[in-house]
Amino acid sequence: MAGDPRPSRRSAVARAQRMLQARRARLARSERREPPVARPVGRPVSRGDVPVVDLRDVHKTYSVGDIAVHALRGVTLRVQRGEYVAIIGASGSGKTTLMNIVGCLDSPTSGTYRLNERDVGGMDEDTLADVRNRDIGFVFQSFNLIPRTRALANVELPLSYGGLPRAARQQRALAALHQVGLTDRVHHLPSELSGGQQQRVAIARALVTNPSMILADEPTGALDTVSSEEVLRIFGRLSDEGRTIILITHEQTVAAHARRVIRLSDGMIVGDERAEAMETVG
Ligand SMILES: Nc1ncnc2c1ncn2[C@@H]1O[C@H](COP(=O)(O)OP(=O)(O)O)[C@@H](O)[C@H]1O
Ligand SMILES: [Mg+2]
Repeated sequence: MAGDPRPSRRSAVARAQRMLQARRARLARSERREPPVARPVGRPVSRGDVPVVDLRDVHKTYSVGDIAVHALRGVTLRVQRGEYVAIIGASGSGKTTLMNIVGCLDSPTSGTYRLNERDVGGMDEDTLADVRNRDIGFVFQSFNLIPRTRALANVELPLSYGGLPRAARQQRALAALHQVGLTDRVHHLPSELSGGQQQRVAIARALVTNPSMILADEPTGALDTVSSEEVLRIFGRLSDEGRTIILITHEQTVAAHARRVIRLSDGMIVGDERAEAMETVG
């Protein structure tokens, strides 16, 4: 996989790098902010009835020439702290649109989104970038690790912009890698790791800032069955520890690992089930 020249992979990495550069520039401009890691790794936010995500009657309409595409048609959804939610739906049902809104990467055409009880609609670009960095740990289908950069440095990256001393950054990154069972791989390059291990590095990177939720978009989409199970086991354990996880998938077998399954069809929520028995799957 060394220097994998596939364009999708290259552009994903370039996008991640651009995001990080923009983030660095923003942080350079704002000195008064505290480091993005107010809570130590390993002590997730407590469970409670505080909604992390609170969407009300969210619509998203794309205009394509003269045609309006109604990607979301009145989505109302609350996700409480500590929940492990899967959002499942067929291709075109609006999953990515919903993920982009929940991840503060896009805004609704109408309706409101409150993240940690703050209205996202009223935030400017700098604040949004800050919220993305601080509150959300993204995990993507294609891992999006920086190539030719060791696992440890990849995981440290989100901490590089918070003014944390190097030793503290390293300590947190090591703790996050330990949480995903990669203590013996911290000095490996992405090309020296299996797909499953790379995704575990990406999960460690998502965890290292101690975000209030992990937002995973088809995290097992590029993995074989064994690696998928491994990654889902980690999500299960993180959930047991109290992490809030939102997992987007089109696969029932993947969704079955979550404790709550939300079904999206044609831009609307058509199912919302809590599954106790699912906990023993895998
Ligand atoms: N940027 C866009 N411009 C126009 N239409 C879009 C755009 N993004 C998504 N859509 C349309 O919105 C609908 C939902 O898409 P999407 O959220 O990507 O669904 P999913 O992720 O479930 O496959 C689809 O009909 C898709 O074609
Ligand atoms: Mg999609």
